[in-house]
Amino acid sequence: MANIVLITYASKYGATQEIAEKVGEVLKKEGITVDVVPMKKVNKLADYQSVIIGSAVYIGQWYKPTTKFLQKNEKTLAAMPVWIFSSGPFGKGDPVELLKGWKFPLALKPMIDRINPREIVVFGGTMLPEKMSGMEKWIVKRVGGETGDFRDWEMINTWAKKVAKEIKK
Ligand SMILES: Cc1cc2nc3c(=O)[nH]c(=O)nc-3n(C[C@H](O)[C@H](O)[C@H](O)COP(=O)(O)O)c2cc1C
Repeated sequence: MANIVLITYASKYGATQEIAEKVGEVLKKEGITVDVVPMKKVNKLADYQSVIIGSAVYIGQWYKPTTKFLQKNEKTLAAMPVWIFSSGPFGKGDPVELLKGWKFPLALKPMIDRINPREIVVFGGTMLPEKMSGMEKWIVKRVGGETGDFRDWEMINTWAKKVAKEIKK
């Protein structure tokens, strides 16, 4: 197994990708070799030492490539250290509180339990109507909430440093 950490993301409009890239920068600064790759382009997963998975959230679900990736690679993932971050909630305040404790789609719980990630965390996302389709704007309007960028880079930085420490152990 090569001593490389995979950071892979499913991002429709780029907000989650930027978080994945930030996590990659932090790990690199900690002396860890990383590959930051979109989920659809992951090759030879079993060759990596650990995996960090980042997913956007759409209508209470992980963005589709994430679910597909987890289903396809469940067994491999179950045999390696895995961390997952979701990025979605928009609005000020603690992202987990904004989602009323939601951390992952409940229907996927049995599979998540089998994969047994070290941790699943939720970071704020963005809500930028200029990037959305008409349908998406309609959905978001019904749900309500603020527009803007709610990614907390300090929180992301702190989490990435903690993961780096665990990986280096
Ligand atoms: C149509 C639509 C539905 C969304 N549904 C949710 C949701 O259920 N939960 C959530 O936390 N965020 C939701 N979001 C917010 C996105 O997860 C957020 O914009 C995220 O930062 C997008 O990441 P991406 O740019 O990587 O695709 C929704 C956004 C849109 C446009």
